[in-house]
Amino acid sequence: MAPQGSLASVTSENTKLISLPPPVALIIGGTSGIGAIIIRTLLLRTTAPRIYFVGRNRTAAEAIIAEAAKTNPAAKVVFFQYDVYVLANLGRIAADFVQEELQVEGINSEQDIKLNILVNSTGTFNPSTTPTVDNLQPELVSRHYSRILSINLLLPYLQHASTTPLGARVLTIQAAGQENPKNDLTSAINLRDITPRPGFVTCAFHATALQSLMMEELAIRYPEIGFLHLNPGVVFTGIFRELPWWMRMLATLAKPLMWLISTGETEVGERLVRLASDEEHRTGAWLVMPDGKEKDWRKTGWKGIKGEEWEKKRAEWRAKVWVDFKETAGSAEGVQLRDW
Ligand SMILES: NC(=O)c1ccc[n+]([C@@H]2O[C@H](COP(=O)([O-])OP(=O)(O)OC[C@H]3O[C@@H](n4cnc5c(N)ncnc54)[C@H](OP(=O)(O)O)[C@@H]3O)[C@@H](O)[C@H]2O)c1
Repeated sequence: MAPQGSLASVTSENTKLISLPPPVALIIGGTSGIGAIIIRTLLLRTTAPRIYFVGRNRTAAEAIIAEAAKTNPAAKVVFFQYDVYVLANLGRIAADFVQEELQVEGINSEQDIKLNILVNSTGTFNPSTTPTVDNLQPELVSRHYSRILSINLLLPYLQHASTTPLGARVLTIQAAGQENPKNDLTSAINLRDITPRPGFVTCAFHATALQSLMMEELAIRYPEIGFLHLNPGVVFTGIFRELPWWMRMLATLAKPLMWLISTGETEVGERLVRLASDEEHRTGAWLVMPDGKEKDWRKTGWKGIKGEEWEKKRAEWRAKVWVDFKETAGSAEGVQLRDW
């Protein structure tokens, strides 16, 4: 797959989005960082978008809404304040989304509701290993279970949008290319029976593998939708804010070095919005950088496993991860999975 080309050409393509019907986007993890960058770019590039976003920080959300009122007064921008560490909240987010869309002129029933872009971008570095209310590792919830649950609950609206000019896409912002499944996925995938509980770094790399496998599986099951697992590279965001003070200090000291390899906000925003709207990524599973370059273990293999053996192994893993999601999220209190 060809990379996107220069920032100027990507921006120029994005300016054409202005002629499309108003897109509908839901950004889970939109109060800061990459999610907030996507919101700002959509506001800049599209006509009267309806953008719903989720996070815990109401003050940050209000600042985004105030900015939106200036940059795109015709946009509808609504904040849903929820903590995704609680899996039942994903049902509340989906219900709020439906309720808001039913208030839009011309939308008379759930059949009319369309969701063009679903972004999952939660996951700060949270060093806590204290289990969530659902007895799961926090990092696995924000980086895997809540993300797949959002797709499960919003699937009909994505399907309705798949025939529109913009289509329907899911962007999971994480770390394609850095998959490292714990224990080769031979033990419990939700890691809750491992003692001591694995730390957030292990969980993050494990979740990265789970996301890549799920994007592949979902694209097979729902070929009308695009499923993108994105590795944003180094972007200066609020990602370190939940680390202990000494780790934040080390991160601050490393900033000048990181600066050299980082990508600026404007570039990240334009490139991600391009991936969320171009024809090439309209359907299928993609494991990519924001410039469209692949970081795809399906093609490179994993730990020397390649060819047929690698295809077989991934198929086995995908089946296990699918079942684990249904069992783990399906048994969480207050969660009503859609049948899929
Ligand atoms: N930045 C990078 O260089 C980089 C590199 C590779 C991968 N990534 C990945 O990209 C994703 C986004 O990172 P970022 O850099 O944009 O981080 P960020 O600035 O910390 O943004 C994370 C967003 O997720 C929300 N969030 C976190 N935990 C939540 C929870 N429990 N419930 C609801 N919302 C929650 C935060 O909102 P509230 O605080 O309002 O809850 C915020 O809006 C992460 O998965 C990260 O691992 C980032």
